[in-house]
Amino acid sequence: METMFRMNFGEELQVGEMLVVENGSTSERYLIRVMDIEHGADAEETDWMLTEAGLILRMDAHDADYDFDSVKSRLFCTGICAPLGCVGEAFRKTKTIPQHFSTVRRTSIDDYQFLKSSLGDIQVGNLRSGDHVLDFPVGISGKALPHHIGIFATTGMGKSNLMKNLALSCMRLRKYGFMVLDPHGEYYDGGESEKKGLKHAGMDDALVVFSSRKLDGPYNTLHVAASEIQIADLENLYEFSGAQLEFMNSAQYRFGDTWLTDINDKSVQEIIKTLGEGKYHEGTINVVKRRLESLFRFDLISRDPKLSITNHIIDCLHDGKVVLVDTSNMYEAEELLISTVLSRAIFEKNKALYADKAKFDKVPPTLIALEEAQRVLTESKGSIFAQIAREGRKFKTGLCAVSQQPKLIDSEIISQFNTLFILGLADRRDREILRNSAKQDISQLDNEIQMLMPGEDLIASPFTPFAVPVKIYLYEDYLKKVASEGETRKRFRKTPVGAAFY
Ligand SMILES: Nc1ncnc2c1ncn2[C@@H]1O[C@H](COP(=O)(O)OP(=O)(O)OP(=O)(O)O)[C@@H](O)[C@H]1O
Ligand SMILES: [Mg+2]
Repeated sequence: METMFRMNFGEELQVGEMLVVENGSTSERYLIRVMDIEHGADAEETDWMLTEAGLILRMDAHDADYDFDSVKSRLFCTGICAPLGCVGEAFRKTKTIPQHFSTVRRTSIDDYQFLKSSLGDIQVGNLRSGDHVLDFPVGISGKALPHHIGIFATTGMGKSNLMKNLALSCMRLRKYGFMVLDPHGEYYDGGESEKKGLKHAGMDDALVVFSSRKLDGPYNTLHVAASEIQIADLENLYEFSGAQLEFMNSAQYRFGDTWLTDINDKSVQEIIKTLGEGKYHEGTINVVKRRLESLFRFDLISRDPKLSITNHIIDCLHDGKVVLVDTSNMYEAEELLISTVLSRAIFEKNKALYADKAKFDKVPPTLIALEEAQRVLTESKGSIFAQIAREGRKFKTGLCAVSQQPKLIDSEIISQFNTLFILGLADRRDREILRNSAKQDISQLDNEIQMLMPGEDLIASPFTPFAVPVKIYLYEDYLKKVASEGETRKRFRKTPVGAAFY
């Protein structure tokens, strides 16, 4: 599982670079990836390099020059590589090894043509070999969406930038539903002055925005109906004691759809009277009331069930649009509540449609993207997000978890994420978790993952023959590329020479 090759002194090589090994006179070639690089020298003594280094230091101290040229021919570097596969008529895993002393060369775009069939239409960047970027677009396929996606990286390595690329590609395609929950307010207009956001794509028919704060452009205000909030949703946000849960259940049973507003609006005495004297402690009711009060603080939860936006969002997703939900001016509890209620509604709608094959066939793969996903995925049970991770695949509902700390995500849940975008990850335990859950063997990529620069990425998924190294487009550049492709298409459109009539 390891191939070594020798290079002359001074030749450049990078960890992560992909190379081709020609196999003698056959047309077959092996694709290999550099895992590590070592110094070497042709010398009788094993520690010759160390001894010579000592000599150089001593000469340096006396301002004497070491005759470097005389030893150059003895010096070399060894590239230690993992075989990726063997390219012949088709691509296959390597069960054989190339002949001794085969030629090793750098790759060109032609060497990667076999990859095309396994890459998808949701473009995110270009193929990368080390830090050389090739003019070879890489994307993921729509069928990967319900199989869940994980975007993992240390802060500043390019998670948000990648999310914007995914959204832009989905807007161009209009084939997939993509809901982006944005607690940081960075996706609509880029957040910072030099950055661009989804609105700059100018694809108003493909983007629908919901926000609880004022935005500079068209958007819908964010409301969910109190009747849509379930006790389980609230349990995601707060710890409730057994007595408090029992009280809420009883109130829901007694008050029906308006239970949430009733608990909020009615006095403790009124509630006690309705539910029965002595059943619930005043303190219990007060704690629940206080928690709900904070939810009603903003104009977020509407009392009118008709004022809900969930159905509108579901329609947009089913119509292949990108739905941006900006929750950036909310407290964390409210933001999570909105995310939970919307995600539950989408999942349950798709699940309900499953029974009607004709309708379900028309539902596009839907992806729900969640920032700081470790907050709600620490346990395999409980949250709707964990449920979507476990069951969503069947119902065309995928989760896109964005996180800086994959080690905090429950291991069973993380194993459900079939496509992993691995950007630079400094923490060893984070890398270990991904190594164990990736659908491809990425154990040999540990060195490379540590060395990734912002925007450099590895996509591990069962849909490609190996973890594909990518340079993610800088979103601002991708916007320009999309705009210029649009212009070219317009220019080459045939100019009409007349109009037919009947
Ligand atoms: N594909 C890329 N190409 C070039 N530069 C990039 C790329 N992706 C990110 N960067 C640079 O890194 C910076 C941080 O990127 P981004 O905000 O996407 O990181 P992040 O992982 O979302 O960080 P955080 O965890 O803080 O949210 C960007 O402002 C940009 O300058
Ligand atoms: Mg970010």
